[in-house]
Amino acid sequence: MLDENIEIIKTKDGSVGLYDKKLDEIFHSIYGAKTEAFEKFIQPAKIIDNKHLKILDICYGIGYNTKCALENFKNISLIDCIEINKNLAFNSYKFSYRDDIDKIIKSNLEKNNLIHFYINDVRKIIKTLDKKYDIIFHDGFAPHKQSELWSEELILNISKLLDENGIYCTYNHSKPVLKALLNAGLFVGKTLKDNKTIGTCASFNKENILNPLNNYEIEELNTKSAITYKDPFLNFTHQEIIKKREEEIKNSNLMTLSHLKKIKLNQD
Ligand SMILES: C[S@@+](CC[C@H](N)C(=O)[O-])C[C@H]1O[C@@H](n2cnc3c(N)ncnc32)[C@H](O)[C@@H]1O
Repeated sequence: MLDENIEIIKTKDGSVGLYDKKLDEIFHSIYGAKTEAFEKFIQPAKIIDNKHLKILDICYGIGYNTKCALENFKNISLIDCIEINKNLAFNSYKFSYRDDIDKIIKSNLEKNNLIHFYINDVRKIIKTLDKKYDIIFHDGFAPHKQSELWSEELILNISKLLDENGIYCTYNHSKPVLKALLNAGLFVGKTLKDNKTIGTCASFNKENILNPLNNYEIEELNTKSAITYKDPFLNFTHQEIIKKREEEIKNSNLMTLSHLKKIKLNQD
């Protein structure tokens, strides 16, 4: 059912997660695949209350975010899902979530009604989409493993698909990603749990951002640590992107994050 480099693991909320042996990277939080989908993707997106929700699920995997959206939003008119691994997407209904939702996924794999599957590199698909989405989930592997999923150019292309009142959600709260979202013209905020940041949301509508970045957090994005991943033609390898970023950091006149922290300490 799965590629040989992918292993099934049990996460702490009892739901099944996956681990990619080749990449040495987990697909889902060890604290709970289902919980993660709800807390980092669905909960922040609940600010959107449209009648006919259009959702874009980038890096669908086995579909926790889509399944959790189906469970929590009653007014979905369409979900477009992008995933590079056909095997995962096409077997996703076998990772049982809830009977009726598993059935919806299976039937849409056979005949697209509500859910459309785009099986290819997101960098190829993204330029072919022409809708505006109310909610966008972005759930790529971490940038130190797959920086091509977090480049400034990809994020700009994703932002072009976001409705002016829509919301973008990701678990990623790294500085280069926050900076790329700001550079795309979005208001950016934190997804919080027990006062800790567990993810990021962004919107062109300021009112959708409940916990905006504070002044200091924005200042941090003007340091070297927030230099974005660059993938100008959306075709660089991860290694090329990392190498280019390292060169850019080396040649940059921006302050380092530790320097900024020292200045702030001395001011206090
Ligand atoms: C962190 S996992 C996502 C987990 C997923 N949301 C779920 O609920 O199972 C990252 C996913 O990105 C997919 N992926 C990796 N590179 C991709 C690319 N270039 N384009 C689209 N999907 C990609 C992987 O196959 C994997 O399923």
